[in-house]
Amino acid sequence: MSKDTKRTIPAFIDLAAQRQRMGDRIGRALLDVLESDQYILGPQVAEVERRLAVFCGAKHCISCANGTDALLLALMAENVGPGDAVFVPAFTFVATAEVPVLSGATPVFVDVRRDTFNMDTDSLEGAIGAAKARGLTPRCIIAVDLYGQPADYARIHDIAAAHGLLVIADAAQSFGAALSGKKVGTLAAYTGTSFYPSKPLGAYGDGGALFTDDDAKAKLLLSLRNHGKGPSQTETEEIGLNSRLDSFQAAVLLEKLGLFPAEIVARQAAAQRYNAALAAVAKVPELMAGTTSVWAQYTIITDRRDAVANACRAAGVPTAIHYTSPLHQLAPYRDYPTASGGLPNAEWLVDRVISLPMHGYLSHEAQDLVIDTVLGALGTVRKNIAAE
Ligand SMILES: Cc1ncc(COP(=O)(O)O)c(C=O)c1O
Repeated sequence: MSKDTKRTIPAFIDLAAQRQRMGDRIGRALLDVLESDQYILGPQVAEVERRLAVFCGAKHCISCANGTDALLLALMAENVGPGDAVFVPAFTFVATAEVPVLSGATPVFVDVRRDTFNMDTDSLEGAIGAAKARGLTPRCIIAVDLYGQPADYARIHDIAAAHGLLVIADAAQSFGAALSGKKVGTLAAYTGTSFYPSKPLGAYGDGGALFTDDDAKAKLLLSLRNHGKGPSQTETEEIGLNSRLDSFQAAVLLEKLGLFPAEIVARQAAAQRYNAALAAVAKVPELMAGTTSVWAQYTIITDRRDAVANACRAAGVPTAIHYTSPLHQLAPYRDYPTASGGLPNAEWLVDRVISLPMHGYLSHEAQDLVIDTVLGALGTVRKNIAAE
């Protein structure tokens, strides 16, 4: 039985409720892998790649070991390296900035918007100028779909086209979302996602995938993720990585894909309910026109974050802060360039964001406890909750 139904206190992400929903199927699927003796790149891996591509409408899905490698493999496939500038938001998980450094390139930090939390395209122009002023060659933009909402790809593509840049989508948090009717996986030349267990579509270990419509790049990525080997596995054609998905994780993903559409709907309903109840006391997340979110996180902005965090702790309601520092202020990243104009929004957000429990199995009772606790902390009593 999930925590929700037992005590009404929600889990931050309820993997136990999800496992219960899958029943015996998940154990059987794992046992099938065990008995197959094909633990890495087994038939489940090919099948999950096929189904993920169909799910999002991308031509190719290339699975890999984690979401960080997915981004790194895209940079490797494009020969991004020393002297190249890669534009990344300053307010995201550190992996987004890690990969340009690992490929020998220079991350250049771009500010984000306060309403969507995603890359600010005016700041992107300022970052391109700052990169050129440093003598770097602008090569690509890694746009992050933070908390589950796609970035403003229409505007990002315009800027990319004007400057001859490649766009990579960091969709670690947004697989399953859409923009103007197109699913995440089809919004950029390459899309990387993560199957870390707490992601909206999570495995029971590390995993990731890349999506592309480019046949030649897909073939190259298949080689790069497997030590640069060619199709026969004997010849070595590229300098690659060990970044293969294991068959156990693929089996888990195949089971979870069956639940995923309903979970997305449940997350969206929960977000709407939070929005309706909390908009009067905090800045609630906004979606751009034409986007859907998979609500990897439900994150509010408040000047009284400590009061919310303390009240939630006292009530047993888990919260999290994503992220406590903008990337350009983290010690290893301090010397990399930033957009001209600075990164004021990223610096502002890190002091004010707080994420509340969010998953596809959040009961109304559990959600009401969260809402009442936040309203209590911010000095308002809930009057009118959205219709159930
Ligand atoms: C925005 C973003 N990018 C990249 C990653 C990296 O994914 P992984 O942990 O699977 O390497 C994450 C995971 O937390 C993420 O949230």
